[in-house]
Amino acid sequence: MSTHPEPTPAHTADLVVFGGTGDLSMRKLLPALYHSDREGRLSPETRVIAMSRGGLTDADFRGKVDAEVRDGFECRRVRDQVPIEDLAVWERFLARLHHVSVDVGGSDKSGWDALSGLLSGFESRDRVFYLASPPRTFGPFCRELAEAGLVTPRSRVVLEKPLGQDLPSAQAINDEVGAIFEERQIFRIDHYLGKETVQNLLVLRFANAFLEPVWNSLWIDHVQITAAETVGTPGRRGYYDHAGALRDMVQNHLLQLLTLTAMEPPARNDREAIRDEKVKVLQALRPIAGTEVDRFTVRGQYVGAGDMPGYLDEPGSTPPTEASARVETFTAIRAEIKNWRWAGVPFYLRTGKRMPYRRSEIVVQFKDVPHSIFPGGTPNRLVLRLQPEEGIELHIMAKEPGAGEVTLKPVPMSLSFGETFTARVPEAYERLLSDVLAGNPTLFMRRDEVEAAWRWIDPILDAWKADPALPEPYPAGTTGPAGAHELLGRSGRAWHEEDM
Ligand code: BG6
Repeated sequence: MSTHPEPTPAHTADLVVFGGTGDLSMRKLLPALYHSDREGRLSPETRVIAMSRGGLTDADFRGKVDAEVRDGFECRRVRDQVPIEDLAVWERFLARLHHVSVDVGGSDKSGWDALSGLLSGFESRDRVFYLASPPRTFGPFCRELAEAGLVTPRSRVVLEKPLGQDLPSAQAINDEVGAIFEERQIFRIDHYLGKETVQNLLVLRFANAFLEPVWNSLWIDHVQITAAETVGTPGRRGYYDHAGALRDMVQNHLLQLLTLTAMEPPARNDREAIRDEKVKVLQALRPIAGTEVDRFTVRGQYVGAGDMPGYLDEPGSTPPTEASARVETFTAIRAEIKNWRWAGVPFYLRTGKRMPYRRSEIVVQFKDVPHSIFPGGTPNRLVLRLQPEEGIELHIMAKEPGAGEVTLKPVPMSLSFGETFTARVPEAYERLLSDVLAGNPTLFMRRDEVEAAWRWIDPILDAWKADPALPEPYPAGTTGPAGAHELLGRSGRAWHEEDM
């Protein structure tokens, strides 16, 4: 079986990446585009135009990518070990790259003229403007694009997270961008939606008959959604002090996983039908506000342990401030969805830096059998692993072989994507970039979705801000503060790893 799927016909596009020499571009976007090129998913004429303040020529930029992204490939964990010796494809990819220096908001308009020069004559192509830059630049960049006459009906704009700090700032960004681009042209990215298992969740739920009848409060006790990371935040204080785990991970990634787990079956596999159902879940989240915030949320900050520094001691370009002391690097939340399907089923969300393992997963914990005739049984559990090893596990009860008394043992029925499918599992950004180039917004967040998420997050942020207490400390390399365990322990439950 070929490891390269048949290429689908690709649109010719000009992809303009603002922030094109930055970390995201070098680590994620360019490698993803290279893979797409290698697998025949980029049309031969598609160009990639990086914009930055760097003052680079095309040759400089190609040299930088050649030196840095190739190194990047070697140290990134790419499943099929990119055959970088395949130099012909690499050279072809490098030849697609261009660089334009731009001064957004400045008086020097020569960068915009240079971009116009590159794009003119190609108005019939799809144009994708990818804003891999801080959100404060989104509005000014779109305005300048429009002033330079570069926005065509076939243009799209891609917005990287974070989309604002709270609901009002997200609305302001949406208004600014919406003044130039129509909603159908705006692609708000959440890279979790590009992960293979996340898309598989929809297939698992809606292409198999056996799950749907038990996917509700009659059969499910609770759901846990975890995104645990071993990394800390070295060098990111400037960003992280103003973000924290709630804005950085929960408002987007974890809530997206929650909506896909909890949504009603859409009538069609189409962009609006799926997003309509996701928004309904966000709108049905029970608000957590005021004094309830203490009961239903936990925030923590890692402190030094062994040779791992604490958050406040992480090396960084800026020294810690009062904001640093108050920022959460861990959070756990008990969420509830107020609808018929999910009434009474808690959804526990948890994310943290410097945890003992890197693991993102959705755990669906079923209730116990209504009447047990065997002692020692444990309820079924379905685990959807997003990373590190994408897969699905259903834990069922089985009889241990033996002629004596019946002894039960929970055993996993596992599907490992890596072992089952020979095709390379693409990185999230590969899938999402292909969708942007093809103009398919299904896996991107609509304005109402992003704003509904902020509407639920804002009261939690407000209560934390008003609370003089600092986040609970937890030693680096552990599973978070005691409060996170109490959050489940109060109802006799435990996080997945505690009862493995
Ligand atoms: C990003 C966050 O959106 O997601 C980072 O800003 C986080 O703080 C990252 O590390 C996690 O992504 P992944 O794909 O490694 O789980």
